[in-house]
Amino acid sequence: MAERKQYYLFANWKLHPARLAEARMLAGIAKKRANRCTQVLTVICPPAIFLAELAARYSSHRLSFGAQDCFFEERGAFTGEIAAQMITDVRGQYVLLGHSERRALGETDETVAKKLRAALAAGLTVVLCIGERERDEEGRYLAFLEGELRTALAGLSRQKLGKLIVAYEPIWAIGKGAESAMSAHEVHETSLFIRKVLRERYGEKAAFAVPILYGGSVAPENAATLVRDGEVQGLLVGHKSLDPRAFGEIMATLDASL
Ligand code: PGA
Repeated sequence: MAERKQYYLFANWKLHPARLAEARMLAGIAKKRANRCTQVLTVICPPAIFLAELAARYSSHRLSFGAQDCFFEERGAFTGEIAAQMITDVRGQYVLLGHSERRALGETDETVAKKLRAALAAGLTVVLCIGERERDEEGRYLAFLEGELRTALAGLSRQKLGKLIVAYEPIWAIGKGAESAMSAHEVHETSLFIRKVLRERYGEKAAFAVPILYGGSVAPENAATLVRDGEVQGLLVGHKSLDPRAFGEIMATLDASL
């Protein structure tokens, strides 16, 4: 596989931290560390209510911001929703879509597909999250992953692929200790499979250009192995992204891994 120029490091803060002051503190520390990196682009996805303030104050050439979700309509009577254009308007450049925690609240593949179109139309880069609930010996999880991918991408033209990132997050590996993360070998196998599905649909060149990330119990101890041996182009980090020391170490490790 040809060399890539950078790794992506996404921080999914989920429903944390409780206060804006703490969010500022975390973003400030992340900015200092991110700016020391030469090979890593860090993207923080805070709770939407903090996004405008953080993106305005802390964006840099090595630190960007994104949202954890968006709605598929631009405006209207949709209480509680956030439009993709609102994210770009406050300097958010990315959006996570189809995270398993959103799917657990009732989001379907079809809804994810609609959101993906809306987000791309607004100029956001989409991190499409897919992942199986469990692995079975017969390999049915592969058909499940393929279904998630194909439904989300149905009708999407090759031209739009330039703003797509796929994050593979096996649900059984989310939110645990480093020892519960997937093995780098399994990550590699799965990323090859995802790439194959993309290739069948869009051809070799376009498929190869889509970055694939791994997420699920990423920690300083496993970050380097996961990207190097897993042959993914970056990581999506949940709980460890709220621990400044651990997140800084993950950043430094990735930066030294290319
Ligand atoms: P985790 O979460 O790093 O806490 O496992 C990853 C995610 O859900 O995006």
